[in-house]
Amino acid sequence: MTTVIKGGTIVTADLTYMADVKIDGGKIVEIGPNLSGATTLDASGCYVMPGGIDPHVHLEMPFMGTYSADDFESGTRAALAGGTTMVVDFCLPDPGQSLLDALKRWDNKATRATCDYSFHMAITWWGEQVFNEMKAVVSHHGINTFKHFMAYKGALMVNDDEMFASFSRCAELGALPLVHAENGDVVAAMQAKLMDEGNNGPEAHAYSRPASVEGEATNRAIIIADMAGVPLYVVHTSCEQAHEAIRRARQNGMRVYGEPLIQHLTLDESEYFDKDWDHSARRVMSPPFRSKQHQDSLWAGLASGSLQVVATDHCAFTTDQKRTGLSDFRKIPNGTGGLEDRLPMLWTHGVATGRITMNEFVAVTSTNIAKILNIYPRKGAILVGADADIVVFDPSKSKTISAATQQSAIDYNVFEGKQVIGLPRYTLTRGFVAIEDGAVKTREGHGHFVKREPYPAVSKALSNWKELTAPRKVERSGIPASGV
Ligand code: URP
Ligand code: ZN
Ligand code: ZN
Ligand code: ZN
Repeated sequence: MTTVIKGGTIVTADLTYMADVKIDGGKIVEIGPNLSGATTLDASGCYVMPGGIDPHVHLEMPFMGTYSADDFESGTRAALAGGTTMVVDFCLPDPGQSLLDALKRWDNKATRATCDYSFHMAITWWGEQVFNEMKAVVSHHGINTFKHFMAYKGALMVNDDEMFASFSRCAELGALPLVHAENGDVVAAMQAKLMDEGNNGPEAHAYSRPASVEGEATNRAIIIADMAGVPLYVVHTSCEQAHEAIRRARQNGMRVYGEPLIQHLTLDESEYFDKDWDHSARRVMSPPFRSKQHQDSLWAGLASGSLQVVATDHCAFTTDQKRTGLSDFRKIPNGTGGLEDRLPMLWTHGVATGRITMNEFVAVTSTNIAKILNIYPRKGAILVGADADIVVFDPSKSKTISAATQQSAIDYNVFEGKQVIGLPRYTLTRGFVAIEDGAVKTREGHGHFVKREPYPAVSKALSNWKELTAPRKVERSGIPASGV
């Protein structure tokens, strides 16, 4: 059964042109004029783009005494409704737990996914077992990324020595380390001080995690990665200080990537000063929303290429879950949603305003991360042979974002009331039309795990360089006799 997407303009990270796209067996089989097939999808007036890839989501995540409310079914349904066709979740071993046992839990949860998915493996503790299992994770389980939390002291946080050991192991395995960069020790001390002073509301969450704690940790992770000889991917880059560290590293020749979130690009710190406790608590996430100056820095980074990816960190908690922290902001589960809204919000605030081009939009929502994750051009491309993960995006379609009409399981939306221009007409996941003019036709279990091979090129380049510049003993002749 062939499908043809007809009459649209193909927009990729580097090209814009009119052509039809023919799909067979879940793959793109032909691109060109006047194609025909068993089924035709009308793309006139639309942009035909690679489906979004969100490399940062937490579906049914065990966190802060509860589980995030969107699971792999509702989360990926929200993704497809918003034009995203692949998500990458984080497998989180408990302290002392085998990485491979944790992976079984994640495999099990993800069987309900409606679009393709992959996992990052988190390094939540360190020991010989973790060192050994990292190899199996890469070579047998198709995971080439390892996440490190520099925050959440007493829970997910790892220390510098553990990070250096893990980064060095990543270098050996051709894997890419990821960091949540905030100084967890300083955050914990600031949280305790704010509570002692009677500052127990959600605004104190933001006060306890200023931009400097993120900038410091980002810089520290970059230096540790450089010493270990690995590239580095910094998740949820939210401020100028972190962006500056990434920019500087890149200018010095380091392979460092930065990932702003759509929330940080479009929502600011004033959300935490709302008189309505629920309003503010629903927006508690780490790092917190920042000022307009930080937003400008992130937009500039996307336009100039110093930041490469826009994600969501989708980690949705209901209002009831958020209320666990009514008398102590430290107990408000950290996280916000965004999977359904990432593409429309970025189009509206990025492309429609002229801050980024359509091609840059494709780059930062899909193609760049496909390359970074080493799944390009199977994903992130409109090319013959690529998976038919496609969004047919209608730039004239608009809506007002509302929890009442969203796919996510939670009872609110942090973008509530925002008008967006640009929505999917169709979203295809491996050729299957899951979204059709607002109608949701997703199929539970349709999603497949996407295996990701290690990065031979980058890790070989870095290890060659490390070897060339490694410490070497100076061989000396005429050593003075001892004791003279
Ligand atoms: O607040 C956040 N970001 N929650 C999800 C976990 C994380 O730190 O990414
Ligand atoms: Zn994080
Ligand atoms: Zn409100
Ligand atoms: Zn996250």
